[in-house]
Amino acid sequence: MLLLGIETSCDETSAAVARGPTDRGVEVLSNVVASQDDLHAHFGGIVPEVASRRHIEMILPVIREAMQRASVTWEDLEGIAVTNGPGLIGSLVVGVSTAKGLAQARSLPLVGVHHLEAHIYSAAIGRPLPFPLLALIASGGHSHLVLVRDHGHYQVLGRTRDDAPGEAFDKGARLLGLPYPGGPQLAALADSFSGRVTALPRAQLPNSRDFSFSGVKTALARTVRAGQPDEPERARLAAAYQESIALSLADRTLQVADEIGECPIFAVGGVARNARLRQLLAERADKTGLRVHFPDPDLCTDNGAMVAAAGIHKLARVGADPTDLDCFDNLPLQSWAKNSRR
Ligand code: KG4
Ligand code: ZN
Repeated sequence: MLLLGIETSCDETSAAVARGPTDRGVEVLSNVVASQDDLHAHFGGIVPEVASRRHIEMILPVIREAMQRASVTWEDLEGIAVTNGPGLIGSLVVGVSTAKGLAQARSLPLVGVHHLEAHIYSAAIGRPLPFPLLALIASGGHSHLVLVRDHGHYQVLGRTRDDAPGEAFDKGARLLGLPYPGGPQLAALADSFSGRVTALPRAQLPNSRDFSFSGVKTALARTVRAGQPDEPERARLAAAYQESIALSLADRTLQVADEIGECPIFAVGGVARNARLRQLLAERADKTGLRVHFPDPDLCTDNGAMVAAAGIHKLARVGADPTDLDCFDNLPLQSWAKNSRR
């Protein structure tokens, strides 16, 4: 099946063409991402109204470019997948309306994809998903541990009780005076520190499968306000902060993987780009005999390819959505697999 995938849930306008499933998972023919970082940098964060206006300007050129790069025509395509929640409603509505209009005009089946399942399916690009698997979704808006028993069969085992890890990275970056987008900037500053790294205090949440990142943010805020740190001290603090978030994510994920038994781990979402998190998870998983996988870094942050990958499997198994597909800022992750127990 050859699908166009469209993603506009936050501040990235993206479209991709993908084919699958094959014995090597989903194959991506093109994946075009128009970032809005330059636009929101002026404001130090995402301005929803500005984001939706830019999506309107970019969506058709981005789709056109994705189809050109993949060398496909409308006649070649067999469906359109689009993220329909959760996310910024003014951003989602641009992608969903465009997808609906194109599906109607070209008589193509349309399928709505949950943003978190799209992140999970970023792991299906280049390899078939081995079930059951444990997905750590670590992004700017979410921190979820999801047991995926089969295609479209999700059981949320843990989630953040306060901030998402990407949000924590972004807020930490702001406290350290780093420009937007903060997460990658903080990670780069942290990685430039060559001394001994001691993690900042972090929430422990005993007997839980949840995450919490608000405590480490408070610890950083107190330290920064107390000391007016110079450049080397800011690098040390960035490393301590990153270490704390990475340890929280890695420890909890491995604890849950151990509790549910032998099952591969896939770390996905924007924060799964983080090199220290990748290193910690890989080292610790190796020690306990667990397997951990990461998508290509470019497939971790929001993109249309992961939406197409999820759409290919969903369309093949449960068919198209009605033409009045709606979008939702707040949308729980629900199983769609036939006979699934949530
Ligand atoms: O998955 P994503 O593109 O969007 C959401 O669904 O939220 O994730 C974006 C988040 C941002 O908070 C960004 O700061 C964070 O991922 N991020 C990183 C890195 N690259 C992106 N955080 C830590 N280290 C990175 N290298
Ligand atoms: Zn995302």
